[in-house]
Amino acid sequence: MSAATKVLVLNGPNLDRLDLRDSSIYGSMNFAELTSFIEREAALIDCEADVRQSNSEVEIITWLHEASDSKTPVIFNPAAFTHYSYAIRDAVAMLKAPIIEVHLSNPMAREEFRHTSVISGVAQGTIAGFGPHSYRLALLAMKELI
Ligand code: DQA
Repeated sequence: MSAATKVLVLNGPNLDRLDLRDSSIYGSMNFAELTSFIEREAALIDCEADVRQSNSEVEIITWLHEASDSKTPVIFNPAAFTHYSYAIRDAVAMLKAPIIEVHLSNPMAREEFRHTSVISGVAQGTIAGFGPHSYRLALLAMKELI
């Protein structure tokens, strides 16, 4: 039996406090529940999801550098960093394996500052607006890509 495909699932700031955010936008799962959901969905398609969250731009960039070195595919919800972090964009651009941007909400249907993603242009694609299912759909897309 071949080993499960490893996928790094990175999450940016404030997603650790999902349960305290607006549930009409982000749904009712807390981050631990979202993590279990992603791990379960990954296992169903023979992937192993390494789910991480950080509020620190530095830590996220370090994880992206590691993913680049190990050629690990990445599913990435950059959260608010999506809209302005050129440092994260540059780190994403150096990845060697596919990267899919995900969002729980649909930023295009929200405030204007969320309509810009500095990440989308260096990602294979973006899946947004389907709540936790954005991650499930990204896993399925990743499976096709690799
Ligand atoms: C988000 C959308 C971002 O605009 C926001 O800053 C987040 C979460 C999402 O998953 O819908 O923190 O990335």
